[in-house]
Parts: sequence; C-alpha cells; structure tokens
Amino acid sequence: MNKSVIVNKSCALKGNIEVSGAKNSILPIICASLLTDDVVELSNVPDLNDVHVLIGILEDLGKRSMFEKDKLTLYPTDELNINIPIFISETASKIRYSILILGALLAKGHEVSLPLPGGCSFSERPIDIHLEGLRKLGATIEEHPNKIIAKSDRLKGAHIKLRFPSVGATENLVIASTLAQGVTIIENAAREPEIEDLINFLNSLGAKIEIEEPGKIKIIGVESLIKKQSIKHKIIPDRIEAATFIILGAIAAEDFITIKKMNVTHNLAFLNLLQKIGVKFEIINNSTLKVYKSTNLIGTKIETDIYPSIATDIQPLLAVLLTQAKGESTIIDSIYPSRFQYIKYLNLMGANIQYLDSSEGIKIIGETKLYGHKVLSTDLRGGAAVLLAGILAENTTIIENSYQIFRGYSDLENKLLGLNVRLGNSSDKILQMI
Ligand code: EPZ
Repeated sequence: MNKSVIVNKSCALKGNIEVSGAKNSILPIICASLLTDDVVELSNVPDLNDVHVLIGILEDLGKRSMFEKDKLTLYPTDELNINIPIFISETASKIRYSILILGALLAKGHEVSLPLPGGCSFSERPIDIHLEGLRKLGATIEEHPNKIIAKSDRLKGAHIKLRFPSVGATENLVIASTLAQGVTIIENAAREPEIEDLINFLNSLGAKIEIEEPGKIKIIGVESLIKKQSIKHKIIPDRIEAATFIILGAIAAEDFITIKKMNVTHNLAFLNLLQKIGVKFEIINNSTLKVYKSTNLIGTKIETDIYPSIATDIQPLLAVLLTQAKGESTIIDSIYPSRFQYIKYLNLMGANIQYLDSSEGIKIIGETKLYGHKVLSTDLRGGAAVLLAGILAENTTIIENSYQIFRGYSDLENKLLGLNVRLGNSSDKILQMI
C-alpha cells in the first residue's frame, strides 16, 4: 500500500481525536503470547501493518488469530515439535520486532533460524544487547550475515546488566527468562510504560515478574504458565500517537481540539516541555486533554533520552512545532544521534533546519512559513513530521512512501478527517507535481 498521501493546508481543526493502543506494546505482547497454551484476548489493539506482519509470522508457527476492530484473539499453537528446528520466514526481516520471537521460542527450548530484523532505517539497529543477554541465559547463538541460528535446552536464570537500557532487549530477555530455571535479574533495564504493560500481561498468564525498582526487573522462572480459561488484556494507549495529535492541535486548531483515550501520566516530560515552549493545553482527566492553537511559541533546547525523558520518537514532531517558534531551537537525539533524515523534506517546504553533527543534533530557525511540496516519508516518525508540516503549509503537499506512516498510526486518515484535515484528491494541478 505504498500510495501517496495528499494533504492541503488545514488550519481550522476542531473536534475530538482518539488515541489507539500502543504499537510498541502490542508487538512484544504478541510475541509473548507464544509462551502460553491459553486463548489470549487482547483489546485496544491498533490496526497497524506491523501487527498484521507479526501475526502472519505467528500463523506460520501454527498460532491462529482473529483480528476484528480492536480485538485480537490469539489461539493456542498446535504443539510445535521440539526436535525440529523452526525456520522463521523472510517476512520477519520486514519489521524490527520479529527479534522478540527469538526470546519466546528459546524460552520453550526450540532451535530457531531467524532472518535479521528490519524496521525503520533511520539508524543502525544492532541487536548485540539482545544476543548477549540470551547467551547469558544459556542459549547458543550463531550469527550469520542475514540470519541468526539459536537454540537452547531449558534456559537458566542469570544476573544480566544491560550496557544500555534497550527497550527491545529488555522485552526479549523478560520473555525469554519467564520459563527459565531459576531467577533472572535484569539491571539497567528499560523503564518505558510498554515494559510494564508486557510484564502485567505475562503475570496474567502466571509468570512471576516484578519491577524491584526502576530499571531493575526480577523474573522467577516457572516450569509452565498456569492453564486458565482465557486471558484478557487491554493494551495501554500509544503515548507517541498522543504526542503527535497534541502537536497537531497546537499548530493547526481553529481554537482547540480534544485528545481522548490517551494516558497523560505516560506523557509528563513531553507536556512539561510543551509548557516551556508555550503550548496551551488543559488536562481534563488522565485520558483526556484539550490542546489550544498556540502562537507565542518560544524556541527551546531539547535533548531526547530514555524514559521518562523526552522520547526519541517524538523529536521529529517537535521539530515541526519549533519551525513556528520565536528564535532558534536545537534538538539533540541521544538515542539515535542521526535520526534527522526528515529535515531535508521540511526544508524543501520552507523550514530552515541545519544538521550540525551527531553530538550537536539540529538547529531550527523559527517563524518560518511552510509551503506545500512533494516530499518523502523517510521513516515512521519522519513521515508523521512531514504530514504535520503539510497540514500547516500553504497549498498542497504530496507525501510519497506514506506506508511508513501507517505502520505506526492506525485509522489515521479517518481520525484526521474527523478533525477537518483536508486530505487531498489528486486534481490535475496536484498530479503535475507528482
Ligand atoms: C524501541 O525500539 C521502539 N520500537 C522504537 O520506536 C523507539 O525509538 C526505541 O525503542 C527507543 O525508545 C518498538 O518498541 C517496537 P532500543 P528498539 O533497543 O527496542 C541501541 C517508533 O518510532 N541498541 O531501545 O529497537 C540502538 O541502536 C520506533 O515507534 C544497541 O546498540 O530500541 C539505539 O541506539 C522507532 N544494541 C538504542 O540502543 C541492541 O541490541 C535504543 O534502542 C539494541 C539497541
């Protein structure tokens, strides 16, 4: 579905927009469902391309599923023969989080051949922290140019200190150690809300996992998960989608828009930053926030960091906001120092953003008028950034490679139309731009 998105200037947005379940929560939880023989009923599940790719891979492993509206039911896998190696299809190389299938299958004592994971290409995405932790749990892992072959008898609990609090590696090791023999301690673990959601899901299956203190997780391995009728779990709201819509309201609302079904406590650092920049908003309750068209924005220095600091995934969206602020701003991304491919296209639209270097990040000159242009969605959040810019810019913007955006934002077109965003039709004038 690599169609282009056409968006016209829309600066009188009003109404409500609902946040869906978190992409970065549903993906690890789908992988973790491989551990149980129970029926798993997930709700508030976002309808995203990456979710379909992942459940497709699990179908190859015999795990049937049913996905209707925001309900995803995962059925028990026909017993996979422990003596036959499992070959995961090349599809797995389309998404980053196929790597978490490894933790789940090793936890069950399988031998696995897994293509190297894919995902957004804004940076090198190594998996050394995943593999180092799995080896500490007793897995033997061969690294090949484009695949990994791994196997284990029963994994054994270990004391693992991550060299960096990798979100995915933390999730992979929590999943892998759930059925290990003995106790696993993960230190310098990631602290994102999606980790807690995964742990709550696993504990509902009968796992014994505890966050002893922020960044330290204790997993008491169990022989098997307790058989129950069925497991029901609601996915937490997507905090990055919420941040995207809040910025949209700040730049393009007629007066205000209302964000619903979010989780305010998962966005506290972001909301504090918005106050500093001069964005006007009102917290109605923990799941509802009103954001007002904000004009007297102040240029700001921003540095992303691990949770609960400003998330790297939000920095492309903040860059669009800061093109409208008074004075200069800078953004340093300490997680992915070169995650700035999208500025080329914002500059094509009239922004004045300079990439300094990986340690200084980018400098944004404020109060720049944006104009529609033909641009490219460089990756998921870079695509969201040019979409926000297109809504703000004069005339019409055509965004190519737009499937990237739909990887992380479910039902996006309907949500935007609900706010009066003028998604375009390909009139002749526009087609001449393509
Ligand atoms: C998760 O990716 C998110 N994806 C990303 O969101 C997010 O940007 C990232 O965490 C950081 O918050 C999902 O949850 C599906 P990491 P992940 O392992 O787990 C380095 C989006 O836009 N690293 O925490 O892959 C890595 O290079 C996506 O929704 C290693 O060096 O991120 C990076 O610099 C994009 N070795 C840093 O750690 C490893 O083995 C953080 O990566 C693993 C990671």
